Amino acid sequence: MAGGPKSPTSAHLIVLGNEKGGSGKSTTAVHLIVALLKAGYRVASVDTDSRQLSLTRYIENRARFARERGILLEIPTHYVARLAAGQTVSGIEAQEFANYVDIIDRVESDFDYVVVDTPANDSYLMRLSHAMADTLITPINDSLVDLDLLGGVADGGDQPNPAGHYAELVAAARRQRQQVDGVLMDWIVVRNRLSMLSSRNQQTLLSALESLAAVHSFRLANGISERVVFRQFFASGLTALDTLDLATQGVEPTISHLAARHEIRDLVAMLGPPPAERVERATVLPAAVPQSRRQLASVGE
Ligand SMILES: Nc1ncnc2c1ncn2[C@@H]1O[C@H](COP(=O)(O)OP(=O)(O)O)[C@@H](O)[C@H]1O
Ligand SMILES: [Mg+2]
Repeated sequence: MAGGPKSPTSAHLIVLGNEKGGSGKSTTAVHLIVALLKAGYRVASVDTDSRQLSLTRYIENRARFARERGILLEIPTHYVARLAAGQTVSGIEAQEFANYVDIIDRVESDFDYVVVDTPANDSYLMRLSHAMADTLITPINDSLVDLDLLGGVADGGDQPNPAGHYAELVAAARRQRQQVDGVLMDWIVVRNRLSMLSSRNQQTLLSALESLAAVHSFRLANGISERVVFRQFFASGLTALDTLDLATQGVEPTISHLAARHEIRDLVAMLGPPPAERVERATVLPAAVPQSRRQLASVGE
């Protein structure tokens, strides 16, 4: 994939990225994977966070849970991009590059979507993933600290300071990608762990993000709420998209499960189309903003 022009039939590569740990990359990744599998797409997943391997563990838990319960759960074809060891930085990077490109080469023509999870630290594989993305999804927590990576806000005001470190990394990745094959990576920022109670602080952050969206050319998704269910799912590998009933999960589904499901579907609706429809991509991308999240906002936990 690196070097030559991207073939029009190659998979749509979605990268989850943010230089901040705990912002919800791996949780969002597994939810997108399952949503796309349930929609009938062929999905491969790649874990480049080789130290934490959260996405890998989540998928392993899911496969084990399905086996133990004797139920059918969608499982992606999963790969781990291994970190290399060596004497020199260039030698290590060459090995990591070869290993990663080998994975991408293997999946690119056989899958509709490839979902790549990345580590929070600025590493070679993390930058490489960003440069290869067709769509970059950046979950951020609703706090000024997270906002600062994108650009932050000036003291007390809602004027963005357009110099966030992560936003610069994304801009560099976009330039790199455009030089290779002219593709402008689509960047979606999604607020995660939103508090159900809307506050003045939330409003300030939202208007700052809207300004930053124009400065850095990203699209702002509706957001995912803070929900206990997202934390509970990891051990079983289940997601909000799965059929949650007594037989599968041991408990009845709640309003919170359904609301979580709608939030994920809203995010999926923002994604670019799979490769077969890619020709019209430029006109399709600004997808209609789904209404379901707004309807559910009053439902609560
Ligand atoms: N919307 C959410 N509501 C509640 N907990 C969440 C939510 N999103 C993520 N979490 C929890 O936060 C922690 C970090 O999430 P994770 O997806 O591993 O972040 P990252 O991959 O960015 O480090 C996990 O324990 C996860 O269960
Ligand atoms: Mg993670």
